[in-house]
Amino acid sequence: MPTITVITRQGDSRQVTASNDLSLMEVIRDNGFDELLALCGGCCSCATCHVHIDPAFADKLPPMGEDENDLLDSTDHRSVASRLSCQIPVTDALDGLIVTIAPED
Ligand code: FES
Repeated sequence: MPTITVITRQGDSRQVTASNDLSLMEVIRDNGFDELLALCGGCCSCATCHVHIDPAFADKLPPMGEDENDLLDSTDHRSVASRLSCQIPVTDALDGLIVTIAPED
């Protein structure tokens, strides 16, 4: 099970252990980071699970889908590191990942 470091909007960081049958959004939310609202529950229709991913892990992520790309375009804090965490399945390849919860829109 990979270990992932989550950084909050306030800059606090905490390591969590992730389960491979979950999405990154579920891991963040299930570990009590309530500021990641994930309002649509993971069906890629809200963008409130927006995170910034450590660029070193960019090639370990699944490609971005069209819906995810469109939703990220609607946010104010998109960067090259932006992803919707509900669209990222946890795998062992993500061990050591650092993920930052994006600022609220
Ligand atoms: S939880 Fe809504 S888009 Fe990810």
